[in-house]
Amino acid sequence: MPALDVYFYGKKIGKLSEKNSRLSFKYNENADTPLSVNLPLQKEAFNDKLTRSFFNNLLPEEGIREAVARYKQVSSNNPFALLKEIGGECAGAVELYPEGEEREEEESSLTPISENKIAELLKNQAQIPLLTGEEIRLSLAGAQQKIALAIIPENSNNYYLPRGSYISTHIIKPQNPYFKDIIYNEHFCMSLAKLIGLPTATSSIRDFSGEKGYVVKRFDREIDDSSTSGLKRIHQEDFCQALCLPDKKYQKEGGASIKQCYKFIANTDFSRKADALRIFLKAIVFNFIIGNSDAHGKNFSFLHRGGKYELSPLYDLVSTGVYTALSPNLAMSIDGEYNPNLIHRSHFEAMARDLEIKPAMIDKIIDETASKIQEVLPELDKQFAAAGYKSELIKQIKELMATRIKQLS
Ligand SMILES: Nc1ncnc2c1ncn2[C@@H]1O[C@H](COP(=O)(O)OP(=O)(O)OP(=O)(O)O)[C@@H](O)[C@H]1O
Ligand SMILES: [Mg+2]
Repeated sequence: MPALDVYFYGKKIGKLSEKNSRLSFKYNENADTPLSVNLPLQKEAFNDKLTRSFFNNLLPEEGIREAVARYKQVSSNNPFALLKEIGGECAGAVELYPEGEEREEEESSLTPISENKIAELLKNQAQIPLLTGEEIRLSLAGAQQKIALAIIPENSNNYYLPRGSYISTHIIKPQNPYFKDIIYNEHFCMSLAKLIGLPTATSSIRDFSGEKGYVVKRFDREIDDSSTSGLKRIHQEDFCQALCLPDKKYQKEGGASIKQCYKFIANTDFSRKADALRIFLKAIVFNFIIGNSDAHGKNFSFLHRGGKYELSPLYDLVSTGVYTALSPNLAMSIDGEYNPNLIHRSHFEAMARDLEIKPAMIDKIIDETASKIQEVLPELDKQFAAAGYKSELIKQIKELMATRIKQLS
């Protein structure tokens, strides 16, 4: 039976196997930390559904997945083969290697990559996704083009390929000809979230020999002076993994709903649970106001820390509502309504009742979020002007936000 060795925090802890297109996962005897909320430590192998929900969710989706499959000559609906090809540097602290092929141990030298080369990688993403052309087994979820590199030190222009022990520290997304100025859109929304006090991954725009990229610092990587690379992995799972949804991102196809995510946090061992619940609700309100219709279950994650869970900083905040080519409908409905143009405060209040929280609490979150956004916008304008970012799109996002805030008044 073909198998992949599963490494967790750098230690071989189990095997992912495939038989007749069905996946199973089994821990080795030395495993001492569970890989997933749904994969507790046990002797028996896990079935296809539980295994698939964790492992398939490590892989990219849609066009990126198809391009990887094409480039690597495997089927895009074969998660086992895809993970064999690219499941090295993944989200969180998991790594997969073909069975018996020893994980490349602690490479002692960094492999620098020039800005010209980064520009080339960003430009070629449609044909050669992630880092497949560099023989680096990088796998990240999502449907947008991206690469991941190490930037050491963080604020320098020293870029390195995440080869061997040198894991990536940042994710970089290129411009997308179909979605104008999307990198500025994402940087704007992420910066706005940060300015209003939501825990948010740190983003910036960088220029790679004339090719602009959106750069976000990985929150699942941290400084660790005791390792050769000076970095370590922190484990994370997304809400599709947590809710056992192997291939469903959107609520209307059976994917995660606000209630499922909220109840998951409420009923699981989260540290600072009340804060996590409030931040999750704030993020829902924030996404509605900025016009982010793509806040699906894979765009919320949590970190594993000391046997407990903690909501991850927010990421992938984009005002999708400014692009006519994207569906306006919300990934997760508010009180059963998917069309954001038809949503008012009463929908949020009904959502609160359904979550068994006081409608006054969501009212307070709406009022605080709306007024804080208005308060910090001039500061964000200043930041964008100082950096020389001029985009017509930002004006459109602000207009959309004003419309959404009015709907909630
Ligand atoms: N700052 C970060 N730190 C750690 N992991 C991250 C970070 N940003 C994103 N990720 C991981 O990478 C995955 C893909 O990132 P992201 O959601 O930004 O991509 P995308 O292609 O724009 O997604 P979508 O298909 O939702 O538009 C996320 O689901 C998450 O697992
Ligand atoms: Mg995403």
